Amino acid sequence: MPELPSLLQHSRERFEPLCAQALATRNSLDPRLIAAMRHAMQNGGKRVRPALAWGACLAVGGDWSQADAAALAVECIHGYSLVHDDLPCMDDDDLRRGQPTCHRQFDEATALLAGDALQAMAFQLLGESVVPAEVRGAQLTTLAQAAFDMVVGQRLDLSAEGRQIDRDALEQIHAHKTGALIRAAVALGALAGGADASQRKALDDYARHLGLAFQVRDDILDVIGDTAVLGKQAGADQALEKSTYPALLGLEAAQVLAGSLHEQAVAALAGLGSAATPLHELAHFLLQRDH
Ligand code: IPE
Ligand code: IPE
Ligand code: MG
Ligand code: MG
Ligand code: MG
Repeated sequence: MPELPSLLQHSRERFEPLCAQALATRNSLDPRLIAAMRHAMQNGGKRVRPALAWGACLAVGGDWSQADAAALAVECIHGYSLVHDDLPCMDDDDLRRGQPTCHRQFDEATALLAGDALQAMAFQLLGESVVPAEVRGAQLTTLAQAAFDMVVGQRLDLSAEGRQIDRDALEQIHAHKTGALIRAAVALGALAGGADASQRKALDDYARHLGLAFQVRDDILDVIGDTAVLGKQAGADQALEKSTYPALLGLEAAQVLAGSLHEQAVAALAGLGSAATPLHELAHFLLQRDH
């Protein structure tokens, strides 16, 4: 595994206490629900989306605290999406981040509700954030759109199981189920940092390519990865006859595609100068990640 880039390292250190604090202030009338939300959120995710939100904010001259709510909110949507993704009616997985999936640790209804609650929590955190009102409005709309697009992608993913689809259709699935939230992480961070239109455009080009590359790599790791390192079941896509890039193009061509998307992502940062170096390093790490 390549060395953790400092953006990801700092993001993890910043994220964990913020997340613990946010969960500690939720309605705790039902401790089992809160425990399931904690299980979904405080079990060692890579925190890529928070890092992207903070990295985008820093890249346009903002500071870390301006993007705290954005980082938390996007990761709550991500956490919820994983809990639901693992349910028996979806990918039916037992292992996530090296631990039992939420519905295995608790029960299906509790996992379903924990996902619902995390989604609500995301919008509340963003709505309460300290950025100017017009920024907050744009962030809320952007995150809502992305959360909806993610759901569209998840639905498309399920309907593509066991079917041959073409490359455009596969790109649509990946851009929606995974790309949308990665783009939103970057967009929310850029908005928080006061990005102008051209900075937002450059960062969105970065995020669009990175988001697709991220899911291509996820598909590749499902084929070449090791369950113990991945923290989730390797080979799960093939077992479900998922439509993936390795299935469509073959492993080697999928690896070439990931590399070329990575190049395009990094090229989009050119005009942002040295403030975007952390995002550059993060992209490099993600291309080589082993989990
Ligand atoms: C996994 O996302 C699901 C996808 C959208 C590919 P991550 O690889 O970011 O998962 P965690 O949060 O680090 O566990
Ligand atoms: C996940 O795609 C996408 C979302 C959770 C929105 P996958 O189903 O490939 O993710 P993993 O491999 O289970 O993490
Ligand atoms: Mg899935
Ligand atoms: Mg899955
Ligand atoms: Mg996967």
